[in-house]
Amino acid sequence: MFDKKKETKDYFNNNTEFWSSLFKDSIYGTTTQRVRIVANKLRNQIDQSKSDKLEQNFKHLDFGCGTGELASISANMGSNVVAIDIAPAMVDATISSIKQEFINNTKVFQGDVSDLDKIEDSSVDAFSALGLIEYLTLDELETFLHHVQRLLSKNGRAYIGSRNRLFNIFTENEFTDIEKIIGEYDKLFEEYLAISIWINENTLIQSLNDKTKIKPFLNWKYPDTLPKTSAVSVSQRIQYSLCDMSSRLMNKGLKLSDINAVRFHPTKPSLLQKTSDVDLIDKINMIIDEHGITKWAIPHSSSYILEISKE
Ligand SMILES: C[S@@+](CC[C@H](N)C(=O)[O-])C[C@H]1O[C@@H](n2cnc3c(N)ncnc32)[C@H](O)[C@@H]1O
Repeated sequence: MFDKKKETKDYFNNNTEFWSSLFKDSIYGTTTQRVRIVANKLRNQIDQSKSDKLEQNFKHLDFGCGTGELASISANMGSNVVAIDIAPAMVDATISSIKQEFINNTKVFQGDVSDLDKIEDSSVDAFSALGLIEYLTLDELETFLHHVQRLLSKNGRAYIGSRNRLFNIFTENEFTDIEKIIGEYDKLFEEYLAISIWINENTLIQSLNDKTKIKPFLNWKYPDTLPKTSAVSVSQRIQYSLCDMSSRLMNKGLKLSDINAVRFHPTKPSLLQKTSDVDLIDKINMIIDEHGITKWAIPHSSSYILEISKE
């Protein structure tokens, strides 16, 4: 069995420049899109706290900060940012991405889930973790969600990105075959149908927060390894279904308040021409985001962002 934490830390420590380049090469690739979605949500939250006259010391914790793009945008908006990453090279990259004038409002340090212990209860207004939970073990995810609940302030919001397991139904590729091999395909297909109905009825969030509705779609098996879809050489980047995630949140005293699709695929990934279709997909995703309501695109997107509040 591989050591997931070591594999992840080594990979990100040695590939900082590649990660940084993802924000430059594609106008609207997955990484840029998720940061932009959460930056907009942070902006709304900060504006709201200003209009409620609660603006002093808006605190944003970005966990798994990578090369610091979101931390830097948030610091520019006036947040007091705490950014944490397991890989020392990512910590250095984040420090260099923060403008000098905001450096006093920003703390960046190397750490993992166990270091969240050091942060005070109810002290965080916005908690983000994008492209992160796939690298945690299932046990670490439980500890992580416990801390999210503990750290969020009363009206705080968490923004957590996840790879989308439901997408395996649509892709009809190796990921789909794995679901069949481990015996989870039928349940996944049933969840996909239920989610599609909830989206059409405009009851998605309410249904996902309803224990009886999500009950048929719990207790998943997870494959030990998954095919690599990008340059990331980490063996098990876990995908979660929406009902699975929602039940994990509920068990920790958290609840969903919104979901955004990230990286909608208008066709099966295997049919895409890597060189010519990437720009087109970027444009389609940009239009979907600008339209505002992205829930209809969730089953056909390779990841999603959950907006979470305290019960
Ligand atoms: C895919 S990158 C995402 C970076 C950034 N959040 C973004 O959206 O572009 C994942 C980051 O999470 C960090 N990471 C992975 N496992 C971690 C852990 N257990 N504790 C803290 N950081 C972790 C990695 O070092 C890496 O920088």
